Amino acid sequence: MKCTLLLTAALSIGLLCSSSAQAQDRDVIAGIPVNYDESQVGDYKATLPDVLTMNNGKKVTTAKQWKKRRAEILKIFEEQQYGKWPAKKPKLRYDLQEDLGFEGTAVRKQLTLYFSEDNNGPKVDVLIYLPKDANGPVPLLLNLSFMQNNVTVSDPGIKPGRRWDAKTGSYVELPAMQGQGRRMGFGMDATIKQYLKEGFGFATLCYTDIQPDALDTETAGVRGLYLKKGQTKPAADEWGSISAWAWGVSNIMDYFEKDADIDATRIALTGCSRLGKTTMWTGAREDRIKVVIASCSGEGGAALSRRNYGETVGHLVAPTRFPYQFAGNYSLYGDKVEQMPMDAHMLVALIAPRPLLLSTGDTDTWSDPKGEFYAAVEAAPVYELLGKDTMGTDVMPPAEQPIYSTLGYVMHDGGHGVLPQDWTYYLEFMKRYL
Ligand code: GCU
Repeated sequence: MKCTLLLTAALSIGLLCSSSAQAQDRDVIAGIPVNYDESQVGDYKATLPDVLTMNNGKKVTTAKQWKKRRAEILKIFEEQQYGKWPAKKPKLRYDLQEDLGFEGTAVRKQLTLYFSEDNNGPKVDVLIYLPKDANGPVPLLLNLSFMQNNVTVSDPGIKPGRRWDAKTGSYVELPAMQGQGRRMGFGMDATIKQYLKEGFGFATLCYTDIQPDALDTETAGVRGLYLKKGQTKPAADEWGSISAWAWGVSNIMDYFEKDADIDATRIALTGCSRLGKTTMWTGAREDRIKVVIASCSGEGGAALSRRNYGETVGHLVAPTRFPYQFAGNYSLYGDKVEQMPMDAHMLVALIAPRPLLLSTGDTDTWSDPKGEFYAAVEAAPVYELLGKDTMGTDVMPPAEQPIYSTLGYVMHDGGHGVLPQDWTYYLEFMKRYL
């Protein structure tokens, strides 16, 4: 009896230990507690900057005044959150291979865009599919991907991709691994074909081609290329890697404008997670992007930072995590978000009046889907001032019920990432607005 009791006690202590360890993993990240309790989120409205009040306190009531306010907000995000990208762009230099893809059913272009004068520096491979039967320039979706192009699709003949090797501080070529994309569950063939069928092109690139995604890479990628004389890293208001990825997209837009088969006035951009943040910032900074579709961008993206739920600015800028993705200045706000001159609703507003779909997941609590919804609610007056429709409600819609207003919102039933149905939601949004 005693023995059984002892055993039971030991077992339950063991269970308790392991479940509290699990709770700890989830509730403390980089030594900073994570809140998942709605009653503890705090009153974010108390210190939220008013998107329609100028820095000098004047109210914005006209579209003309908004232009000035927008410039103020853009400057804040450039200097305080993502960092300024270089004023001067490189000359457009690229290689283009063109043939047919997907068993001859689609036009396929493989673009390599070079960022350095001698072509030996950073370069990005963009894989572009266009409908074969198009009788004019086509609109397209540009997808920021975690995967190299040769593992994104199973189409043979894709240039080998590269990955950044932190150990050697250099790029390593990925051998042609046709099929691996499918094995890893990242196969995009069906999605791309779905878009082509509806008359849209689909382009994809691997973001690390532009800038590695790792700590201590300030002297690598395009950020390294643009260090000024005597600089060992970008200044505190200069670009982190999110801004570098966004700048890469801006260069790709320059290429799209030169390609007669692509309608560069009708480009949509999408990316998920840190690439969702990149999509938000690119959409804000680069107004040639016509439609913005940001997936699970969360903290540092479309989720309100002043809502203390899930990840916080403190978690993002913790020295062991992602400070390199942002301007150095962003680290100042890790423990004082209430003092930030900006918040996510202002990032959303920067995209107005262009169509923006915020795509989230109902169990992606780390990214705070509710925080994204409320950012959109707070930004809605700007869209309305510019004559555009918004969600028309401050009550979150249930999962799988998209709101396709110009400022739109959709939450899938599931966690972090892009689920198959999301591609259909994005297509629907593009059909309406692109
Ligand atoms: C981490 C990070 C998030 C980010 C995500 C991702 O979870 O905390 O902010 O969005 O990585 O990019 O996958």
